[in-house]
Amino acid sequence: MSASSTAFAADDDAQAASVKRGAYIATASDCSACHTTPGGKPFAGGLAIATPVGTIYSTNITPSATAGIGQYTEKQFARAVRAGVRADGANLYPAMPYTSYNVLTDADIHDLYAYFQHGVSPVDTVPKRRALPFPMNIRRSMMAWNLLFLGSSDDEADATQSPEWNRGKYLVDGAAHCSTCHTPRGFLMQELSGHYLGGAQVGPWFAPNITSDTISGIGSWSKDELVRYLATGSLPGKAQAAGSMGEAVEHSFSQLKQLDISAIATYIKTVAPLHDASDDQSRFGYGKPFSQLASLRGANPIRSDTDAQARGAVLFYGNCASCHQAFGQGSKDAYYPSLFHNSATGAVNHNNLIATILNGVERTTPKGQAFMPGFGGKANDINALTDSQVATLASYVIDNYGRASTPVTPADVAQVRAGGPASSLLLLARIGIAIGAILGLAIVLLLVVWRRRATAG
Ligand code: HEC
Ligand code: HEC
Ligand code: HEC
Repeated sequence: MSASSTAFAADDDAQAASVKRGAYIATASDCSACHTTPGGKPFAGGLAIATPVGTIYSTNITPSATAGIGQYTEKQFARAVRAGVRADGANLYPAMPYTSYNVLTDADIHDLYAYFQHGVSPVDTVPKRRALPFPMNIRRSMMAWNLLFLGSSDDEADATQSPEWNRGKYLVDGAAHCSTCHTPRGFLMQELSGHYLGGAQVGPWFAPNITSDTISGIGSWSKDELVRYLATGSLPGKAQAAGSMGEAVEHSFSQLKQLDISAIATYIKTVAPLHDASDDQSRFGYGKPFSQLASLRGANPIRSDTDAQARGAVLFYGNCASCHQAFGQGSKDAYYPSLFHNSATGAVNHNNLIATILNGVERTTPKGQAFMPGFGGKANDINALTDSQVATLASYVIDNYGRASTPVTPADVAQVRAGGPASSLLLLARIGIAIGAILGLAIVLLLVVWRRRATAG
């Protein structure tokens, strides 16, 4: 073999290794969660992402030169991923989590680039796009937003902490972007750093407080429990992962190396506690086995037209008990989880219970599949429950198995069905622009008056 062909072979090996590392970083970063549609070609884009200010479509990030990012240089790619600026200079919306990817090292970005140029098959179709409603369609407004909220990327390692903890922090704040879902957002949709991982609404689901507070957070979980939850999505007697967390577990966390999951858990266990004064018990601690069957049998005919508890029981035994069992205790192997000691029924926020009833659970990991059908139903589905039925059922489940509190209303269900609460930001921005326009007009008028006077005098 000549010297130059050995050099080529070494280059090939280096590139293959880089592509392989890049593939792992893409998994840890869950790029496919947004850039691949269910059943669609990998990374071809087109996924509709509902945000409080309107629907944003993800783009094609395959190496296609015409439809994807085949023309991107490594520098342009780094700028898109870490700073939210496209190759043509336009700003991306923060629906692309560049505020988290901002901390990715140059070495990781290099490998990611190698993967997206050489490890992904090009797809030449341009996905659907739609402009956001005014004034969010002005991409330049993101420049001001970035000035305010895009942190600097030179996060130094903390020498007082172990390498494992530092690796965990890097993954949590960067690739795994836990805070994009678990940290509440302020008035301008920025993450509130004072409420880091304190719990937030993401679309129809609520990503709970995962700080180290032993009551409001997950401070009472052992490190092994957190590792198990992240790797499988299920922690019997405490929590299951559905919705966007189920997807993150399926596509990202369950695929990570044991060392990395362990590092994530090590770091999460040290996140400063945030306590909610209204919590006096952890959400995993509520409820006990309970069955209404005996009284239902006794009361024939059931006065379900007047009695909400009886109506709830009829819905529960008709739709849920076959899997979650008569006492809500679930199955022995916990494949069907118990409905008491369950964060979805013990939380103050009822959205995860409502969203589970409407959308079900579907999650596949190397440990197997978890499946619960959704009862939200498409049009003409005879199993579909109405908003008022879901409200009655959810209230029944909370009262008897969870943290009894204010009943769930049909309006609560309708909001979750519609994809979660809308932001007042859009309205405020419009009002802001209207006020700006009026002020501008006033200034123009003043200037005109002033000129007239000046010329008259
Ligand atoms: C939470 C959803 C989400 C995740 C996760 C995500 N993206 Fe994006 N990405 C988007 C959206 C939405 C856009 C388009 C935003 C816009 O139009 O302003 C986008 C745009 C991009 C662009 C700009 C492409 C162009 O020219 O249009 C690149 C490059 C990109 N993403 C790469 C990545 C990579 C690499 C990863 C993983 C490290 C990733 N994205 C993860 C949502 C996401
Ligand atoms: C795409 C959004 C998203 C991302 C990213 C995300 N989560 Fe979650 N997480 C959620 C949602 C939504 C739930 C509620 C799921 C449910 O109850 O079915 C949740 C639930 C959890 C729970 C269970 C809490 C409880 O009381 O039930 C833990 C623990 C958790 N997430 C940790 C993490 C960690 C650690 C990361 C980053 C490594 C992360 N999450 C990233 C959305 C997300
Ligand atoms: C066909 C079996 C089946 C039926 C019917 C069923 N479930 Fe489930 N349920 C499951 C499975 C499986 C899971 C997920 C377990 C996991 O994540 O590991 C689940 C999870 C849940 C969770 C936890 C979700 C979370 O994100 O934490 C709740 C709450 C729940 N079910 C309530 C209900 C209610 C209320 C009904 C009746 C409308 C119902 N289920 C009907 C099988 C079922």
